[in-house]
Amino acid sequence: METLLNVSQGQFELQRLPQRKNEKLRAWDAADEYLLQYLSENCNLSSTTNIVIVNDGFGALAVALHAFNPVAISDSYLSRQSTLLNFAANDLPEDSVQLRNSLDWPEQKPDLVLIKVPKTLALLEQQLIQLQSLLTADTKIIAAGMVKSMPASVWKLLERYLGPTKPSLAKKKARLIFISLNAQRAVAENPYPVYYQLENTRFRICNHANVFSRESLDIGTRFLLQHLPKNTNAKDIVDLGCGNGIVGLMLADSHRAAHLYFVDESYMAVASAKENFQLAFEYRRADFCVTDGLTEFEAESMDLIVCNPPFHQQHTVGNQIALSMFKQSQRVLRKGGELWVIGNRHLAYHVDLKKIFKGCNEIATNAKFVIWQLSK
Ligand SMILES: C[S@@+](CC[C@H](N)C(=O)[O-])C[C@H]1O[C@@H](n2cnc3c(N)ncnc32)[C@H](O)[C@@H]1O
Repeated sequence: METLLNVSQGQFELQRLPQRKNEKLRAWDAADEYLLQYLSENCNLSSTTNIVIVNDGFGALAVALHAFNPVAISDSYLSRQSTLLNFAANDLPEDSVQLRNSLDWPEQKPDLVLIKVPKTLALLEQQLIQLQSLLTADTKIIAAGMVKSMPASVWKLLERYLGPTKPSLAKKKARLIFISLNAQRAVAENPYPVYYQLENTRFRICNHANVFSRESLDIGTRFLLQHLPKNTNAKDIVDLGCGNGIVGLMLADSHRAAHLYFVDESYMAVASAKENFQLAFEYRRADFCVTDGLTEFEAESMDLIVCNPPFHQQHTVGNQIALSMFKQSQRVLRKGGELWVIGNRHLAYHVDLKKIFKGCNEIATNAKFVIWQLSK
């Protein structure tokens, strides 16, 4: 796979995370290249230009623009770690980028804002609202993305929260959107996080903007909740890829003596899970981890792992993260421990699961989903 980004700003070695054997995907896309070319040909940047980069995939923009000490804001732990990895791989000092997560915005007003359009529209909306108080009449704002990931709804949001938009020509299926700030715009109130009452429970669920199924209970998650393990002796339980944490919340309710670990690579997901757990169990402690799956967990340390795996990473669909979660679970479970997985029927997770675990038991199935129980 091509790992050398060759742009006017220089040549940079770039990797994606998680690292995989025979990686077929690059750590940047044509929209990154287009944006970097545009900046070098059309913008008179100086060493004091204050740049904010939002949703840099794997650090390509931050690495190429390191000379300006940019601020990079992302909701993804993997994106943050890739950026650090790529700075190190190119012998760039770590402190030449300021990494922020999506709930921790800088206060300094930027001269230039570069937005890679994220997959989740609500995240973009939240980011545009956050940006509003940082913008001045002189701030230049450019959004970038692949044409297929910039539907009309993206343009509408940019116009609604910032001002009139102007498209570039498409190049290698990528496009830039130039935004003129509307000085008369009304500064919108942030609707996030949003809340819903979890059906048949006392739990009120907080959902930050980038959380999976933030408006209501997902149908797959509902099916999983109906079949969760009950009355087990599990002492240490992981909600892997926790989103808003409702799976872990229900497990905590049925396992009063257990310690819960909520794990997600999204900062907003873990913040939501934490708020939900603390509200539900005032005096109980749990661990909340923004990290890549179970990489930081010790071998043979957990009794029960429950997982509704992700089926995409940023704009890329695939089962690679799910597969790595299954392998990690096999390492992290104690002998006799169990992994419970729900999957869309057509994803056929059982094919991989049977290669990793001895026992693979189908617990429940309906027209769309299957739940498997795997024992170590
Ligand atoms: C299908 S959602 C499930 C959310 C929640 N458990 C539910 O059932 O409603 C998958 C979750 O996995 C998270 N995720 C994706 N990649 C991850 C990774 N490498 N490590 C941990 N979590 C990850 C996503 O952010 C998302 O919250």
